[in-house]
Amino acid sequence: MSKTRILSGIRSSGRLHIGNYLGAVKGMLALQEDSAYETYYMVADLHALTTPYDKEKFAEETRSVIKDYLAAGLDPEKSVLFVQSQVPEHVELAYYFSTVTTLAKMTHLPTYKEKVKQLPDHVTMALVNYPVLMAADILAYKAGLVPVGIDQEPHLEAAREIARRMNADFGTDFPEPKRFATKGEYVPSLSGEGKMSKSVEGSYILLTDGLDEIRAKLAKAPTDERVSNLFKLVELFKHERMEYYAAGQKRGDIRYSELKEELSLAIYEELKPMQEKRNKLTDEYIDEVIKKGAERARKVAVETVREVKEKMGILV
Ligand code: TYM
Repeated sequence: MSKTRILSGIRSSGRLHIGNYLGAVKGMLALQEDSAYETYYMVADLHALTTPYDKEKFAEETRSVIKDYLAAGLDPEKSVLFVQSQVPEHVELAYYFSTVTTLAKMTHLPTYKEKVKQLPDHVTMALVNYPVLMAADILAYKAGLVPVGIDQEPHLEAAREIARRMNADFGTDFPEPKRFATKGEYVPSLSGEGKMSKSVEGSYILLTDGLDEIRAKLAKAPTDERVSNLFKLVELFKHERMEYYAAGQKRGDIRYSELKEELSLAIYEELKPMQEKRNKLTDEYIDEVIKKGAERARKVAVETVREVKEKMGILV
């Protein structure tokens, strides 16, 4: 029996934070190590073009995500690591998918509405098409399982709908991709408002942050009892101390300075080996990984596109 394929991606807009790590990368790692799966992990650089970006830094940010992947333990011998724009079949497939997707559906997605609120002057065709391209990323590999955080669920629902439509209209055999969830599927912002996010300054801890940076960021995190952000991080990084701090909070004598110091050390302990590994990676090695990954990914994507064209009645 052939293996179930997995696909996931992270946008190349800045360095990865612990939300990306806990919500996505940890799931990507778990599936990479399971021989039942064939894993494809990409840098979503085309999706990063849907919000304002700096063209001078753009290519470097793409490499930076590959570095974060390798530092976290993704292994080019076990997973196909590649850059989305180097497999142009994703864009081609997204176009075919757009013919079975209504504008009404795309503009009603909560993720779309959020972006419109954040960046009202950047409501482009590419932004509306974001979920269609994401469906193409996944379905180009006929991936049945997608390790992503809970915030991506609306996009997965859109991908399932596109798969169903394509199968019903053209007789393709796309699976309906499901989310592979991790314990950290929702990491809250350090500020206590909403989720940890690259686009919100002060909300995140980067995978590359040193101990002093982590301490400084946690120092600013509110300790209001109604805000559960710190407790969520304790649960994820220092689980064995949950009971101790919960009891302290109940009695009203919890020492947040102690909690923050313990949490800083626990987070840093998990990040330190990745940072050491990251520092040893050379640009030549990164470029080699990217080149090989694109070749391997294209083999699969080209096949899917050919099949879709045939089934849609397009001259091949
Ligand atoms: P992006 O770049 O916004 O986020 C990358 C991954 O990190 C997860 N994540 C979080 N998980 C838990 N808590 C948080 N606070 C948090 N913030 C981010 C996201 O859920 C995601 O898994 N559309 C995708 C990129 C993409 C993609 C794909 C993913 C493009 N094509 C195909 C899977 C399959 C995105 O915006 O990721």
